[in-house]
Amino acid sequence: MFERKVNKTKAWKKLESHCKHFRKVQMKDLFDIDENRADKFRVNLDAVYLDYSKNRINERTMRLLMSLARDCGLEEKIKAMFRGDKINVTEKRPVLHIALRNRANTPIYVDGKNVMPQINEVLAKMKKFSDAVRFGEFKGQTGKKLTNIVNIGIGGSDLGPVMACEALRKYWAKDINCYFISNIDGTACAEVLNKVDPETTLFIVASKTFTTIETLTNARTCRKWLVDALGEHAVAKHFVALSTNREEVEKFGINPENMFEFWNFVGGRYSMWSAIGLIIAIAVGFENFERLLDGAHAMDQHFLNTDLEHNIPVILAMLGIWYNNFYGIHRYAVVPYDQYLQYVPAYLQQLDMESNGKFVSVDADYVKYATGPVLFGGAGTNVQHSFFQLIHQGTEIVPTDFIVPAISHNEIGEHHEILLANVLAQGEALMRGKTIKEAAEELKKAGKSKEEISYLKKFKSFEGNRPSNTIVFKKIDPYTLGMLIAMYEHKVFVQGVVWNIDSFDQYGVELGKQMALSILPELQGNAYGVGHDSSTNSLISLIKRLRK
Ligand code: F6P
Repeated sequence: MFERKVNKTKAWKKLESHCKHFRKVQMKDLFDIDENRADKFRVNLDAVYLDYSKNRINERTMRLLMSLARDCGLEEKIKAMFRGDKINVTEKRPVLHIALRNRANTPIYVDGKNVMPQINEVLAKMKKFSDAVRFGEFKGQTGKKLTNIVNIGIGGSDLGPVMACEALRKYWAKDINCYFISNIDGTACAEVLNKVDPETTLFIVASKTFTTIETLTNARTCRKWLVDALGEHAVAKHFVALSTNREEVEKFGINPENMFEFWNFVGGRYSMWSAIGLIIAIAVGFENFERLLDGAHAMDQHFLNTDLEHNIPVILAMLGIWYNNFYGIHRYAVVPYDQYLQYVPAYLQQLDMESNGKFVSVDADYVKYATGPVLFGGAGTNVQHSFFQLIHQGTEIVPTDFIVPAISHNEIGEHHEILLANVLAQGEALMRGKTIKEAAEELKKAGKSKEEISYLKKFKSFEGNRPSNTIVFKKIDPYTLGMLIAMYEHKVFVQGVVWNIDSFDQYGVELGKQMALSILPELQGNAYGVGHDSSTNSLISLIKRLRK
């Protein structure tokens, strides 16, 4: 480990003074003076295109950002991840989601042992099992085909599977339905169990640690529901586990033969490529699951082998650094214009915020600069009718990623063209804006009086100069989804490298979990509050009174 203060590097200082000058620059002027701007700031990998020309950048900005990345040792850090070095320094673990989709099957060593054979073995087991469920060879206790697949998991053991299953809904087998139970709120369980029939339901208990209270409580409830209907023997036919923790899986009462393993070198939020993706493989078929891995592998190779200047995840990451650390903009939106991608923002929220929401550097020092931004989003055009008011006219600037498939899986009438027109309009409107003069002229043309024009013109103006990236591809398919998700994973990695934080631990989620465990017996009436603040104590009493 070497000590490094990114904000003391030459490149950082240069970027600070470059930003001071650049604050006055308008993107629309940059477009006016350079007709090749769109070509200059566009890059692609196969059929995935990133247009980043609508950012507050010029060539010097990008040069300085890339030299900052180099000053932070990015190129070497990328190699270290792919080599299997223990770059998760606080947990002393390698970070090898890239090995899960290492389609070239080149050896990757952890503590002297090639991890590829064990990865391939689990993939083969997933293929066998997912085929058997899809083709009705693995049947339920009463001999019926398992057509309702329920994934019980939370965080990384839920969000990846939900997001990918929804994104690839068009590829689902006709007779298979997928359900997801994550929240500890009994409603999550109740609503799914109301819809499915025990004889045709397969429960997948997905938990890296197999100690997560939400998942185990939900799994126990589902187990009881099944056993009440079909008897204890049915568990072997209706429950499988995905985990790194064989001992806990056995303790829970799932036969280890029905367990699909993964390993501590796979982080929860990076685990959809592992056994955690079992429900995806059952829903869309193993070949399509492999296409997902292929797409991610293509992005991995691009990330590993492409110079920083043309490297899609690196470009996205450094643009994020530009706004976060130099403009002081600590928020960021992702807006897919595809209904099937509606869960991508929620997925990215965990990926980005759990990875980079850190205030301590790998040198165990408090960082003196901003790290991970607040990420939010939703599907377009819906969000144009919710938070886009703020994105256009709010006092906060929100750099936005638009994700755009050129072709919809449901090309009905002119729906998709209207959707495409909207996304393109948003990017242009955010960049261009509308001056007060232009607003006044429009009002005049609409026949408004002088008084009305003078009152309304500011309301109707848009300052513009608001940045966005546009990511375009042909159509969402397993391969493209793999590329997109791997692109964001590597983007988050690059930012973690620049901020010198460990993007692969998540100590920040522990305190709340610990305190919940001490509050639980108090709520259940078996213990009395000690050591809480007066607000928490009175809330405990209030809730207990209301629950009587
Ligand atoms: O609480 C956060 C977290 O540890 C995530 O990082 C993880 O994805 C999630 O909980 C679920 O954990 P597990 O898969 O071990 O149940």
